[in-house]
Amino acid sequence: MTCLPSEITTARLRLVPIAPEHGAAVEAIARLWEVARYTSDIPHPYPVGSGMLFADAMAFEARHGGDFTWVVQAEGAVVGVSSMFFSNDRRAADFGYVYAPTAWGRGYATEGARAVVAHGFERLGLDEIGAYTAVENRASARVQAKAGLRRIGNLREWASARGCFFNWEAHRVTRQEWQS
Ligand SMILES: CC(C)(COP(=O)(O)OP(=O)(O)OC[C@H]1O[C@@H](n2cnc3c(N)ncnc32)[C@H](O)[C@@H]1OP(=O)(O)O)[C@@H](O)C(=O)NCCC(=O)NCCS
Repeated sequence: MTCLPSEITTARLRLVPIAPEHGAAVEAIARLWEVARYTSDIPHPYPVGSGMLFADAMAFEARHGGDFTWVVQAEGAVVGVSSMFFSNDRRAADFGYVYAPTAWGRGYATEGARAVVAHGFERLGLDEIGAYTAVENRASARVQAKAGLRRIGNLREWASARGCFFNWEAHRVTRQEWQS
């Protein structure tokens, strides 16, 4: 499997491997409550400079055999961030995403999720891809369904940045399901 993330292009989007210079754009999105609200790990308020730290850390991680993160660009602007978190054997991965509210409702998240799933199966040779969503986050559940994932169950897990438990839906798709 490829050890470094590569750029992914779709009809309207460019998913570019994250780099330190994306920090400010990431922060502009992550600091918004509408964005953080249903995530377990984006603090709110978002400490100033955290976008830079995140971009730096994720770029480092990708270079050193860890998880992959892309910034999502539309018409040259960063509209979102998407990550792939690999299993230890790198045969499976979960993915996540956040988009700027100004870019919601245009199908970008769906287009980005489909592209990440296709990349995972076609380019990275994964066997299974999953994603989670807070049960209240129906837009995200819809995005995952439109990317070909099906709900396999629910779980209750601590959302550290929210300081409470969330009820999550787990969605997954196997390579076989995706190809059929
Ligand atoms: C979840 C998120 C990525 C969706 O972005 P988006 O740009 O609205 O996504 P899309 O336009 O690709 O598609 C959204 C779909 O959800 C549907 N939807 C939107 N709000 C909905 C709601 N309240 N209930 C049900 N469906 C809803 C839309 O109609 C659309 O489906 P359709 O194309 O069949 O009509 C965006 O809201 C976001 O970034 N939220 C904050 C971060 C987050 O929650 N990330 C996910 C963590 S799991």
